[in-house]
Parts: sequence; structure tokens; C-alpha cells
Amino acid sequence: SLFTTVSHPTQDLIPHRRPRKGVIVGAGQVGMACAYSLLIQNVFDEMVIVDVNTEKLEGEVMDLNHGLPFVQPTIIRSGTLADGEDADIVIITAGAKQKPGESRLELVQRNLEIFKGLIPQVVKYCSKAILLIVTNPVDIMTYVSLKLSGLPNSSVIGSGTVLDTARFRYLLAEKFQLDSRSLHAYIIGEHGDSEVPVWSKVNISGMQLFQEDANEEKLADMDRIKPIFEQVKNAAYEVIQRKGATSYAIGLGVTQIVQSILRNQNRLLTVSSLIHGFEGIDDVCLSLPAVVNRQGVSRTLNLTLTPTEKEKLQHSARVLRQTIEKLDL
Ligand code: 2OP
Repeated sequence: SLFTTVSHPTQDLIPHRRPRKGVIVGAGQVGMACAYSLLIQNVFDEMVIVDVNTEKLEGEVMDLNHGLPFVQPTIIRSGTLADGEDADIVIITAGAKQKPGESRLELVQRNLEIFKGLIPQVVKYCSKAILLIVTNPVDIMTYVSLKLSGLPNSSVIGSGTVLDTARFRYLLAEKFQLDSRSLHAYIIGEHGDSEVPVWSKVNISGMQLFQEDANEEKLADMDRIKPIFEQVKNAAYEVIQRKGATSYAIGLGVTQIVQSILRNQNRLLTVSSLIHGFEGIDDVCLSLPAVVNRQGVSRTLNLTLTPTEKEKLQHSARVLRQTIEKLDL
């Protein structure tokens, strides 16, 4: 035989750590970019991927499993929500995506119908999990998931403007020839057309780029900087025009959110969560810098905004609130 037995162990000497388990719903480009990024960064011990298209799902899982000799041991399998019983996090990417030129909010009706069937099943089977919503329009789908699930506010998180914030930092850092991790800036509000750049808080090692009281005209005059926000806001349209979808950057962003949850990092991320009473904003999910840890979203930062930023955030909240009011929930 191949091996000789050394001894017959009676019990394990080192107790087992509970395996970290994630469920990814949707094996499309976003779901699979999440799976790939989570795999290569050794975030989960086990990933269950769920999709209605079982053939595509099987192919995707086979493809990932063929890479196992190159990464840390991870169980990757196709399954159903019933396999998510002890999952820590369920990442939902399922649903319709934007066609070129289509806005995120235009997807709402189609994805609401999907979520009405999906969320009760997620809650039924994955009863201990935090829900991380990625499907667009992400702020609306986060709100919908909160209502359909009956879970505590902290347990339902949207990927929100994590990606827009990353785009903003990347583009600004490029201008200043810096590593984007050394430049801090936030996009808040809707992950979509009404999102808000917090120009007053852009800083490099604590050095503010603009004074707190810099008015919008003054900022708008700064030719070097001004077009960056338009680029951020239109980034998804530009990518979708060229490659049909966005996937890698959101996969990396989702990985950061998941790591912050599983490792209880208390990292500040611009995720989407239910907002109650910030600057007069109520009963809507949108992004503000928020503390992400084992509980999910435990606190949101009370950012001091300039009057213009505040007004823009309130407008963004109104856009989302009006969309919610039209829903047949
Ligand atoms: C993105 O911003 C389409 O919401 C997606 O890349």
C-alpha cells in the first residue's frame, strides 16, 4: 500500500476552527469575479455557488476547482441555498444587469421579482448569515432584502459605493502619481447617477486637498480635478459599452467587505445600509462610510459635509426614496 499508519489517533489534539463558509448566489460575471477573488485571497474555507443555470454553474465550479493546486485549500461546490445552512455570509449577485446605456435604477422591477422569490429562501436556509447584496440597483435591492428578510438592520449590507470610492481614489491618485491606498476620498449616496463626491474630505496623509468651505465654483474651476468625478460616475457605462459588464473591480471590493466581516476588522467602507436620521435622511439604504465587522454594519460615520454636499446627498436619498415608494413590496 502507499502509506504506513503511524498511530491510530483517538482524538484531535488541536481543536478545529469553525470553517468560514460563504454562499454566492449568481454565477454570472460578477458572481464569478467575486468567487475568483475570494478564492485567491483565501477568504473562505468553503464556497457554495448557486445559479438557476446549472450547466453554466457546473462549468464555472469545475474551472475554479482545477486551480486548487495553486491556492490555499478551499472547498468549492455548486449547490442550492439548502447547502448554506451554516454559511457566515450570503453574497447575492443574481439578477438582470444593465444593457449598454441603461441606468441601474431601470433594473428595479426585474430584480425585485427575483428577490421576492429568493430572499425568503435565503433566510429559511442560511439563517445565521449576513446578507451582502451586490445586485443592482444595489441600494434599492438592499432595502428590499432588509424588508423581505426581517433581519436586523446590521445584517443586510449592500456593496454600495465601495466600487465608486475605489474608482475615485484610483483616478485621483493617478493624477497625483500616488498609490491609491495613500489617498483617501469617498463617494457617498446612491451607487448610481445621483452619487455624491465628498470633495471636502479628499486627503493625502491627512492633508486636505480642498478647504472645508471651498465652494463648488472654486472646485469646478480646478480643471485638473473636475472631470474625475464625471469619470467615476460614468465608469460603469464606459466599461459596459466596451465589455458588456463590469466584474473584476467589484469582485475585489466584495472581497474587502467579506474580509472585514469575517476578520472583525472594523474597517470603514462605503457600503450601503439603512439610514435613519442622518442629515434628515430616513428609511432608505445608501452609502456612508460605515464600520464593517462581525455584526455586519455596526455604525455609520456622521460625516461633516459642506452645504452643497449635504444638499446633494439629500437629493440622492430622495431619488432612492421615490424609487422605493413606487415598489410593490
Ligand atoms: C458598476 O458600477 C455596474 O454597478 C456596476 O460597475
